[in-house]
Amino acid sequence: NPLCFCAELPRCCLSGCLQVRGDGEILSQVVSSQADLLARYGGVAPKMAEEAHALVIDQVVQKALDDAKLSGSDLSAVAVTVGPGLSLCLRVGVHKVRQVAKSFGLPIVGVHHMEAHALVSRLVNKDLDFPFLALLISGGHNLLVLAHSLGQYVQLGTTIDDAIGEAYDETARWLGLDMRKGPALEELALDGDPDAVKFRVPMRQHKDCNFSYAGLKTQVRLAIESKNLSTYDIPISSASEEDRQSRANIAASFQRVAVLHLEERCQRAVEWALKIEPSIKYFVVSGGVASNKYVRTCLNQVAENNGLQLVSPPPSLCTDNGVMIAWTGIEHFVAGRFEDPPAADEPDDTQ
Ligand code: KG4
Ligand code: ZN
Repeated sequence: NPLCFCAELPRCCLSGCLQVRGDGEILSQVVSSQADLLARYGGVAPKMAEEAHALVIDQVVQKALDDAKLSGSDLSAVAVTVGPGLSLCLRVGVHKVRQVAKSFGLPIVGVHHMEAHALVSRLVNKDLDFPFLALLISGGHNLLVLAHSLGQYVQLGTTIDDAIGEAYDETARWLGLDMRKGPALEELALDGDPDAVKFRVPMRQHKDCNFSYAGLKTQVRLAIESKNLSTYDIPISSASEEDRQSRANIAASFQRVAVLHLEERCQRAVEWALKIEPSIKYFVVSGGVASNKYVRTCLNQVAENNGLQLVSPPPSLCTDNGVMIAWTGIEHFVAGRFEDPPAADEPDDTQ
């Protein structure tokens, strides 16, 4: 029953690490967020994020071990996100993990962030066997993947420009929403009329499984300008009732078309995937945007219409988290895919 411990630092807002046991029990989870930096500066530059991670990583790692009442010598392996992400931030995690691995003679598992988004669904649903179809939707990626087996993935579709999370974030910013962005937009959309603004559904003329959100973003921007809304110059909390309603209508109309685009591409991907692998039973939807209730409801319908079962991790495991990295580390470790411990004489600054 291996124990895996990890560091997950792909982007600018999170340092996290924890330990997961081979049976999927989460023994500790420590997250150090950079939300205060984001709020203060409206964003975080890579160098600033790297420094913030480097400042906290030692104590985050120690706390994860202490909370689980374990020491490094109880572990079987350490896992670390190796990409994709900001290399300055990723390096902080890799460096720390090499130190821990060297001190305790532990193997290292390098984990791909998007594979972890997909595989954490196997932690939440133990019946979920390969092959399965996965839609991974986050701030930087839109991926449709046929997962044949561990490490064997066929990409059926990807975005040709922006990912859906990026479109949510930009729309939220333009509408004057708070720093929670995607979740704040989901909340505002509940008060809006999804038919109020007619946005075009992207890429209907392309009979493939790729995505595009850049054009929808432009349509949203034009709608905001044509309505003469004050947008992010005036936060929504200070907007008039009428102004707020207009923004809610844009939010709801945007969300409807953004998700309809997902539904259409997923329907085609299910058909393709079932032709390649008729035994597929599950449709996995994961990544930050998968924590959105409207997204989950609509994609559940796509799954049901095709006789598949939707598996979508709880929101805390859909948005970036360390559990998914530790779990993916365990999957690879058990399959014998890992790197030997660093040599005892390896210098500590090797990255
Ligand atoms: O997977 P993730 O946590 O980080 C990346 O790997 O990018 O995804 C973050 C993205 C952000 O764009 C965020 O606004 C979006 O997921 N997101 C949401 C919701 N929660 C997070 N988008 C829409 N509705 C939500 N409830
Ligand atoms: Zn992610």
